[in-house]
Amino acid sequence: METIKIAVLGAGNIGSAVTRGLAVHKHASVTLWNRSQKRLDKFGNCNGTVTTCDLKAAVTGAKYIFICVEGPAVIPVLDDCVRYVVPEETIIVSCAASVTLAQLREAAPDFAIARLLPNIAAAIGESANLFCSSLMTPEQEKELIELCKASGPVLELPEEQFAVGMVLSSCGIAYAARYIRACMSGGVALGLTASQAARLAAEALRGTAALLEADGAHPEQLIDSVCTPGGVTVAGLNAMEERGFSPAIVHGMLTAAKKV
Ligand SMILES: NC(=O)c1ccc[n+]([C@@H]2O[C@H](COP(=O)([O-])OP(=O)(O)OC[C@H]3O[C@@H](n4cnc5c(N)ncnc54)[C@H](OP(=O)(O)O)[C@@H]3O)[C@@H](O)[C@H]2O)c1
Repeated sequence: METIKIAVLGAGNIGSAVTRGLAVHKHASVTLWNRSQKRLDKFGNCNGTVTTCDLKAAVTGAKYIFICVEGPAVIPVLDDCVRYVVPEETIIVSCAASVTLAQLREAAPDFAIARLLPNIAAAIGESANLFCSSLMTPEQEKELIELCKASGPVLELPEEQFAVGMVLSSCGIAYAARYIRACMSGGVALGLTASQAARLAAEALRGTAALLEADGAHPEQLIDSVCTPGGVTVAGLNAMEERGFSPAIVHGMLTAAKKV
């Protein structure tokens, strides 16, 4: 397989994470562009990634351009890119939450285009990636999805469901982190150090996810197998539900989805 030249545009949280994920792919040669130098300095070195503030140098000859700038800047940056690349050689991949395939298509009419919604765990190959595309051949899709798997599993989803998917996959990092933060408060109140509590809560989350994935079980089955009748776990769980644990999560997700 030939080396694939990739340009990642935007060295913010998601651009940096996507770059770190892609950079471990053995056939990828990644250039990270940012309009200003500061974030590139912060990014540092990663598996031979080239960093630059020169957009033309970043995108010229690139087979894939991952656009990771903030929403309102996506179309202006794409407008600049299409001056330096041609549809026969380059595929556009937008990681923006709020820009649709139709809007991207208007700015780059003849290009194959994909939307990829990663989360920040892309940096360590553990992102949940949402994917949809326009004007891509099955071969192009296959290669791109293989490439994106370097940052974590890829789930193909109709674009209409991206907002909902994102609430779980991208926003989900913040929700899970807040759960761990709350466990730290509880753990400290019960006499653990904050770091002991954080570690135990994170390991419990990791174990839960691994069990669900391994067995394909429903979460309620795991709950049943942990809750001894009249025991400690169910007492805690019921007390959490009395304070709105599950409804709070559903309410938060519905609120977030309305804002995408
Ligand atoms: N964070 C997430 O978990 C997540 C998940 C999925 C998708 N996304 C999407 O990823 C994109 C970036 O989000 P982020 O969280 O990485 O934001 P961020 O950390 O604030 O980074 C924003 C990036 O956009 C660049 N930028 C802003 N205005 C620009 C302009 N006019 N021209 C060129 N570059 C410009 C910034 O460059 P400077 O350094 O020069 O300001 C920076 O590289 C968004 O479209 C978001 O929807 C984010």
